[in-house]
Amino acid sequence: MTHKPNPLSSIKVNGPIPAHLARSIIEETLRAAILDGRLPCGIALRQQDLADLFGVSRMPVREALRQLEAQALLNVVAHKGAVVAPLVQGDAVETYALRILLESEALRLSIPLLENADLEQAARYIDELETEHDYTEIGRLNRLFHMSLYCKAPNKRLLRLVEDGLNEEERFLRFNLEAMGLGKLSQEDHRALLHSAENRDVAASVELLEHHLNRGVEAITRYLDSPEAQSKKAQR
Ligand code: NI
Repeated sequence: MTHKPNPLSSIKVNGPIPAHLARSIIEETLRAAILDGRLPCGIALRQQDLADLFGVSRMPVREALRQLEAQALLNVVAHKGAVVAPLVQGDAVETYALRILLESEALRLSIPLLENADLEQAARYIDELETEHDYTEIGRLNRLFHMSLYCKAPNKRLLRLVEDGLNEEERFLRFNLEAMGLGKLSQEDHRALLHSAENRDVAASVELLEHHLNRGVEAITRYLDSPEAQSKKAQR
């Protein structure tokens, strides 16, 4: 057995944390470390270690872990505690099928209520995606582009579910985008989608979105079945 460095050593805590901010600071800090891979999939996080690291009691730690679990970044496993979740939870095809339902509905509700400022913002995200080469940024901009088209949907619970799905995808893209070869086609989809949203054409927009997300399912399935992804899995 090789000696593994403590993954928590990559996390920097700046000075004492005010009690009323503890939960959100712990949550944000751990989220960032999970998203950028400093806390890799399968690592167990012990409440007491985190409480010691942040210099707080276990209560805000527990609350922060619960939030991260709700965002599908952690799984609570019996006898192990909170474990950093795998990049795709369960079945990728089922996950995408649900996302298509939720995002189509959000788009349908949002389009009639979109303001010019929302559409202009969406166009800026597309432009930024055009010149961005950093995978972390690409994942983030993709999420922001999509949310800018859904943002006026009045059902806030629906929007939260949609955002959870996009966050999960963002995390997956961050590590696998290069291998998936999605880039260019995806931008064409984004432009077409924006164009039909500008025309307030709900039916065409929903159809384009479904097409775009189905392309995602195909890319992710192809990638997960590839020898590269299989060997990554075997290493865990
Ligand atoms: Ni997209």
